[in-house]
Amino acid sequence: MLPQASLSRLVSRAAVRSLRTAAAETIPSTSIKVLRVVDAVRQWRKPHMTNFRSVGLVPTMGALHEGHFSLIRAAARENHHVVVSIYVNPAQFGIKEDLASYPVTWDADVAALARLDREFADDGANLGRISAVFAPSTAEIYPSGFPGQEIDSKGSFVTITPVGEVLEGASRPTFFRGVATICMKLFNIVQPDRVYFGQKDVQQTVVIKRMVKDFMLPTEVVVCPTTRESDGLALSSRNVYLGTRRRHVAIVLSKALRAAQETYDCGKLDRNDVLGAANTVADTMLQAQMELPPNQRVTWEVDYISLADPDTLQEVDAVDPAKGAVLSGAIKMLPVEEAQNGEDLGHSGGPAVRLIDNIILPPKAQ
Ligand code: PAF
Repeated sequence: MLPQASLSRLVSRAAVRSLRTAAAETIPSTSIKVLRVVDAVRQWRKPHMTNFRSVGLVPTMGALHEGHFSLIRAAARENHHVVVSIYVNPAQFGIKEDLASYPVTWDADVAALARLDREFADDGANLGRISAVFAPSTAEIYPSGFPGQEIDSKGSFVTITPVGEVLEGASRPTFFRGVATICMKLFNIVQPDRVYFGQKDVQQTVVIKRMVKDFMLPTEVVVCPTTRESDGLALSSRNVYLGTRRRHVAIVLSKALRAAQETYDCGKLDRNDVLGAANTVADTMLQAQMELPPNQRVTWEVDYISLADPDTLQEVDAVDPAKGAVLSGAIKMLPVEEAQNGEDLGHSGGPAVRLIDNIILPPKAQ
């Protein structure tokens, strides 16, 4: 028999636990649970382990758009239950980045999830429905305290190198440490059979696949195609920062990458040929902008346009036709130099916006 002291400790722990998990909120007029603590997710997850109901996780930072919806639709086609996590993870923002102004649109996000779930109910093609939103606080997700955003912050981190150090990782040295750490936490909490990521963040997908492989995580990483606006701009929660003028010109990156892809499709494999085509488009478009007056033009800096190995993301001198390659780029759209009267400059007054995009060059038939 347990001594009285241990017994009451156990009882009070159970009481705290049930208080924390009781009365789960739901999104109005749906059965989608809003879970805010780890215990509640674990309690929700447990029965689905034994009744063989599959769970697909779509990790997000909110500000949901069509790109996220396509991931959620894919998850509902392939799993009995879909969990969407909404958490703006400070660890993946550099100290000078846009954490404070990152769009937080909770009401619109839950309304969109309710709409999507109704769509799933009406559409017999889906296996599953949206069962839960996991929206933890920073105190919940970093139980030993938030370790900080600095490069030399101390804490429990997951680092996936060297693949997380190149490209985006070179300009944002804490980014993939933050992403891998939060994804490891989310995967451990939700224990999903499948996790869904967009190809738009191609390096993120390579980092996560490597993490799943090297840490033997029992989940399948599903990568879904990039969702684009009709003019080719890849959807991103950060596009709201652009405003009308910069939005028109933001297609420069996708246009440049498409020019490089066409060169590859025409049979060129050499780096100079493939990337030359992309750089010509970017340079020509920038020159055209520079001929406009400051109250009309848009300017940007190219961070990188890369041709890299699909598994390691190391730069290649030529595409290996048996493997293909990843063509990717990042540009910084600079704030407009001179605003016009009443001009829509975008969310938070139109700060500099980092845009990324990529195209996978498939292997050539031998
Ligand atoms: O792609 C994102 O929105 C984030 O990097 C992710 C995967 C939700 C981790 O915070």
